[in-house]
Amino acid sequence: MRKTIALLLLAATVLLAVEKTPSPSLSWLDAPPLAADKGEQRILDVLAEMTARDGRGDLNITPDDGRLLRLLAEAAGARHVVEIGTSHGYSGLWFTLALRRTGGRLTTHEIDADRVKTAGGNFRQAGVEDLVAIVRGDAHETVADINGPVDILFLDGDKDGNMDYLEQLLPRIRPGGLIIAHSAANQADRMSDYLQAVTTNPQLETRFFHMTEHGLAVTLKKRLGPAE
Ligand SMILES: C[S@@+](CC[C@H](N)C(=O)[O-])C[C@H]1O[C@@H](n2cnc3c(N)ncnc32)[C@H](O)[C@@H]1O
Repeated sequence: MRKTIALLLLAATVLLAVEKTPSPSLSWLDAPPLAADKGEQRILDVLAEMTARDGRGDLNITPDDGRLLRLLAEAAGARHVVEIGTSHGYSGLWFTLALRRTGGRLTTHEIDADRVKTAGGNFRQAGVEDLVAIVRGDAHETVADINGPVDILFLDGDKDGNMDYLEQLLPRIRPGGLIIAHSAANQADRMSDYLQAVTTNPQLETRFFHMTEHGLAVTLKKRLGPAE
């Protein structure tokens, strides 16, 4: 009897150990971004340098967020991405990985003059300065000058201003375009009016990603058919 119990305990211990050991097949979850050409490598090098130099701090999105932004921008064939909140250009650089292949451009708005300067230097170092226009000033005012259809609007400035940006810019987003709000998890209380608006408008579809980190609210402006 004692021998049987001991064997059962041993079997249970082995099972628990197997359960706890991460499967080697999940290693692809941490696979780093791989450069397809020298241009991509140059941008990825600057991103890595920025992380090493400054740490993530509070000013930047995460690399996972950046990879998702690039993926969405390239899949959408984005020709015009508008960003609110340039900071040092970290998220902007992720967008340029897509824009150099879609023939698109980034217009990024920043209120802080020092950050405009630093971001400009980072875009030049990455060789993507021709793809990016930095607009200095209060974006609540400067977005009034945005022309033409916008494929992706990335909101990462003053979070309590998101509702105003939505009201001003929704008409400029092309049908099928995206509005992406950063910090939808950790700063949801600062944008609750915005989150309410994008989840209750039948002309929009919103889903949430990376919500265990800062959170991204990704909103599709639906393509609408003729009136029924
Ligand atoms: C969280 S940081 C942006 C981080 C950046 N998107 C990145 O991941 O690299 C927010 C930025 O928005 C800027 N900002 C805040 N209010 C603004 C406004 N009204 N107009 C333009 N920029 C603003 C801040 O100066 C700051 O640099």
